[in-house]
Amino acid sequence: MAQDDNTAAAKKQRYSGYYNQPAKSDDSLLTAVGPGTPCGDYLRRYWQPFLIASELGELPLAVRLLGEDLVVFRDKSGTLGLLHKHCIHRGVSLEFGIIAERGIRCCYHGWHFDCDGTVLDTPAEPETSRIKHNFCQGAYRVVERHGLLFAYMGPPEAEPEFPLYDALCVPGQVMAPFRMPLPCNWLQIVENAADPIHNAYLHAIMSASGSQFSVAFKVLPALDFVETPLGFLSMATRKVRDHVFIRAGELMLPNVAQFPAGNNAVDKESVRAFASLTRWAVPVDDHHSFYIGTAQWDEHGITRSANLDDYGVGKMPLIGQTADRPYYERQIEPGDYDAMVSPGPIVNRKSEHLGTTDRGVVMIRRMLAAAINATREGKAPALPRLPAGGAPVRTYAHETVLRLPLADALPDKSALGAFGNRAAKVFIDMDDIADSRRDAVARERIEKILREACDAIGQPA
Ligand code: FES
Ligand SMILES: [Fe+2]
Repeated sequence: MAQDDNTAAAKKQRYSGYYNQPAKSDDSLLTAVGPGTPCGDYLRRYWQPFLIASELGELPLAVRLLGEDLVVFRDKSGTLGLLHKHCIHRGVSLEFGIIAERGIRCCYHGWHFDCDGTVLDTPAEPETSRIKHNFCQGAYRVVERHGLLFAYMGPPEAEPEFPLYDALCVPGQVMAPFRMPLPCNWLQIVENAADPIHNAYLHAIMSASGSQFSVAFKVLPALDFVETPLGFLSMATRKVRDHVFIRAGELMLPNVAQFPAGNNAVDKESVRAFASLTRWAVPVDDHHSFYIGTAQWDEHGITRSANLDDYGVGKMPLIGQTADRPYYERQIEPGDYDAMVSPGPIVNRKSEHLGTTDRGVVMIRRMLAAAINATREGKAPALPRLPAGGAPVRTYAHETVLRLPLADALPDKSALGAFGNRAAKVFIDMDDIADSRRDAVARERIEKILREACDAIGQPA
């Protein structure tokens, strides 16, 4: 005990780097994604996007996903194939294969594989050979949705229905796919989404150009984390001049996040029940990942840029999402890339000192660990709730700006947090409201809560 006290005291003294060496952590339960790992098995139970559809041309493309080397192609009949990269005959990469009317033919000895991995032909073998019936090339199912290619890499007997999220099914919306490579573990991208306070610092207060998020984000928000059917809302509620401003990002297990655009000037009222950006944090391997998804907008939604050319591979209309800037500029104005990558390929979590604002980070780690352990024990992982009749999956990211009826309404962080929490539940309890009415109904219900908050301070709204 005395020894512990001495150590603690030594660590708290000034110039105590000698005593403050970081502890070593092993987070492999959450970070190791290769075949046969608990986390890798868990992630493989969900459809994972891995390519912008337009990245795939006439030739096969080598890709690395969840620690596996693969080749993706579209055969001449239009079917998508995703096969283990190395030919099961003698290992030549199928990126040099010849695409056929049906499937792909290995360049070395002509073995011909269908998109599902079936060996169709081994042309150099004797006609009587039955070798092609004895093996399959490893293959995964691929679908194209929202301008992206998604793979399912889990056990075929457990393949889930593809979840169409409501935010990606808004009539008349424009969708802009993007894919952003990062040399870090996937969990660092997920944790970035669970951390709404970084929007105030990294994207506003610390932004030298002032061009990352709007000035409104400089106001420190009340935070809250409100559970949803498959994750939680990462809530930031602010009083900005005479408006209350709620921004709710959303995390959905295992690796989906949705956000409002982040450039709301908070100078006029708006209520929006749909995310303007949806992204998946997808592991390439333990030390490399990308986030991939779409920005989407329509006549009602706020978007960061409505120019499709601003999105693509390594392209997002937000400074600091890549390393593709002079180092000096990155130091003057760092962005998400620098925040997610600079801790190293895998953050040493044992050396962290978490504060109250890290609640969302702790929540997502706990949720993921529980889900990974449950999958390891043979339980089926929780999947998005697919409504009857083929309706899209309800999601809950939202953004609200309302004028305060009274200047001194919602006077402190506690009142703001409670208001944000009630507003979040409005969106979560609206599953039965038609998409076209969600903004209006949410507004009506939140205005009522706001009036009640004003009544509570003893003055009529
Ligand atoms: S290595 Fe592919 S056919 Fe021989
Ligand atoms: Fe960010």
